[in-house]
Amino acid sequence: MNTPRLIQLGHEDPAATRAELIAGLGAPQSALSPKFLYDALGSRLFAAITELPEYYLTRTEAAIFRQYLGEMAEALGPVATLVDLGAGNCEKAARLFAALAVRHYVAVDISADYLRESLDRLQYEHPAMRMLGIGLDFSHTLNLPVEVGAGPRTLFYPGSSIGNFTPHEALIFLRQVHAASQGGNLLIGVDLVKPDAVLVPAYDDALGITAAFNRNLLLHLNRLIDADFDIADWRHIGLFNHAESRIEMHLEALRDCRVSWPGGSRQFSVGERIHSENSCKWRPDDFADLLRQAGFRQVRQWRDERDWFAVFAAFA
Ligand code: AVI
Repeated sequence: MNTPRLIQLGHEDPAATRAELIAGLGAPQSALSPKFLYDALGSRLFAAITELPEYYLTRTEAAIFRQYLGEMAEALGPVATLVDLGAGNCEKAARLFAALAVRHYVAVDISADYLRESLDRLQYEHPAMRMLGIGLDFSHTLNLPVEVGAGPRTLFYPGSSIGNFTPHEALIFLRQVHAASQGGNLLIGVDLVKPDAVLVPAYDDALGITAAFNRNLLLHLNRLIDADFDIADWRHIGLFNHAESRIEMHLEALRDCRVSWPGGSRQFSVGERIHSENSCKWRPDDFADLLRQAGFRQVRQWRDERDWFAVFAAFA
């Protein structure tokens, strides 16, 4: 039986994180990277979101994979190396192993430590497969280490995480994915434009889980920069911005309040917002064009019968 290998690349720099957060909070329109939504509690709340009746994304994507995995496998051919970007518990990738005949599995997530348990479990189920866990924040730069090995790779980026990039950022990221595939391919899940009546509740659910996920960002900030946000002063907003074709999450001040941290503070007036996440929704042809602009020569797609979600295979 093989044992998973783990590598941590680049450790977070608390001073740089602090400077980034304070700059974001202090900007005329406060805005923060959505990655700060994912502390331990935020990650659990996100897992709960994927179970909500309103959050159709996870279920719909899984159904597309169930229905079309055979066709996808035929299109991709046997996969020597599967690189799972944002692997988390590795469950989505594990469902592909048999059909894609994966020989080497590379799980990438912010923390290699976080991958340890999932990879140990997976290795037990797939003793002959080579497994590598890489701790890497690829939101700025995707630079895979030599340990991934030479030759074409299949990169896997499910869950419409690409939607958390603006179209311009997504293009830059997909160009890096194209280069990292080394002549291989990409399998990516993308949420599609649909009526507000479906989109908005997915990001503002009746149970208030998404609201808790968003408001928990303030608790995380309190720890990261020693700030004194009072959760009771803030409410969750989830709206669809038609001009930008994206869901936006904001935190809106319910009353005038001053928030302080060592060395600084900011006054927020009632109604003022902190922009905490974008989740872009794509039209299928526009996303196929984006993949081609990123350098992929050939693109295939599979959608559910309601055209709510798409899985694209893009070939370098
Ligand atoms: C991780 N990402 C694809 C989710 C999304 O739908 O944009 C994050 C999320 N935000 C609110 N609900 C879920």
